Amino acid sequence: MDSDRLRAETPAVENGVYLNNASCSLMPLPVIDAVRDYFALEASVGGFRAMAKEAGAIDAVYGSVASLINAKPGEIALMGSHTLAWQSVFQGLRFQEGDRILTSRSEYGANYVAMLQMQKRTGCVIEVIPCGNDGASDPVALNKMIDGAVKLIAINWIPTNGGLVNPAAEIGRVAGAHGIPYLLDACQAVGQMRVDVEELGCDYLTSAGRKWLRGPKGTGFLFVREERLAEPGIIDDFGALWTKPDGYELVAGARRYETHENAPALRLGLGAAADYALALGLDNIRERVRRLAGGLRSRLAALPGITVRDLGSDQAGLVTFSHDTIAAVDITTALQAENITVKTIPRAGSYLDTLARDIPELVRVSAHYYNTEDELEAFLRALRKAIVD
Ligand SMILES: Cc1ncc(COP(=O)(O)O)c(C=O)c1O
Repeated sequence: MDSDRLRAETPAVENGVYLNNASCSLMPLPVIDAVRDYFALEASVGGFRAMAKEAGAIDAVYGSVASLINAKPGEIALMGSHTLAWQSVFQGLRFQEGDRILTSRSEYGANYVAMLQMQKRTGCVIEVIPCGNDGASDPVALNKMIDGAVKLIAINWIPTNGGLVNPAAEIGRVAGAHGIPYLLDACQAVGQMRVDVEELGCDYLTSAGRKWLRGPKGTGFLFVREERLAEPGIIDDFGALWTKPDGYELVAGARRYETHENAPALRLGLGAAADYALALGLDNIRERVRRLAGGLRSRLAALPGITVRDLGSDQAGLVTFSHDTIAAVDITTALQAENITVKTIPRAGSYLDTLARDIPELVRVSAHYYNTEDELEAFLRALRKAIVD
């Protein structure tokens, strides 16, 4: 990877050491330009004329996102966030008393509270797939849990609170063998590594655009396998055509999960981000991110009072740690004073995992491919100062 070029294309690297790519990465120039140019067009001709003029480019975004995950453009819905994508599938599924939803111990708070609400409304039950010794959801244990009452498997591939990579494809094979719908939260994987919905065997996949993919904030997408296209949780007269006074017809493809209003500028930014990642190569990105994270973990582990908290035998670019006596938020604040951005992960981010491991709030450091070894050194120097001085 040509680090100089990548950094020249990332204007915000001038403004400090940014190690919070798992929350919201820095947009590269092609993304910034796509958003800016479209807003300029909107400012000059108005929202709907701009849309008509750029209809071809806007439509091409579905193709870019589909290529990123080896799907068909008709299986993609562009959404305002991961959560909107996830909810539009989840709320469309039908549960009744005694139905079982199986999930990962590392499940993300936003998804889990929606499951709790569904439990409250319908009497369905949420059960956690046991973890293997490495802390990942265990596909063998999952297989033993399956019976006719299991109506959904919904897990995250990579959680918000560390480097764990759940065996999403093995879990997909269990789901597929039993014909159980499989909803995969791939927020922390998209843009960080190769994502192939055929290999994963998922029926639905959701992601934000702003994280490792480096798209604009306020974007996300949904993949729905063609055979699983059904009634979305929310529809309006974009996703469904009002064809008679007392009836409607869902539109073809995954666009039925979208609603009418959207921001084409952000969508074009998302498409540019997908094209940018594809041009760099997802395996190259994965390799570089893995190398930076691995080096960071071993150097962190050597610091006094620090415990690295990442689970998993196969690890991603999210590096988390705690200190014996200094709270995560105090470390994050001290680093911010040195213009180094990392993130405090609240205990409720992945609450089941927090409780199972009895861990405090964590500091999360997420370096992307455009970050340099020098930046990681600067972070470690500032951290040493915060914990030793
Ligand atoms: C694993 C995981 N799922 C879901 C989300 C939420 O995504 P969004 O804010 O786009 O709804 C996050 C964000 O931190 C996440 O890490």
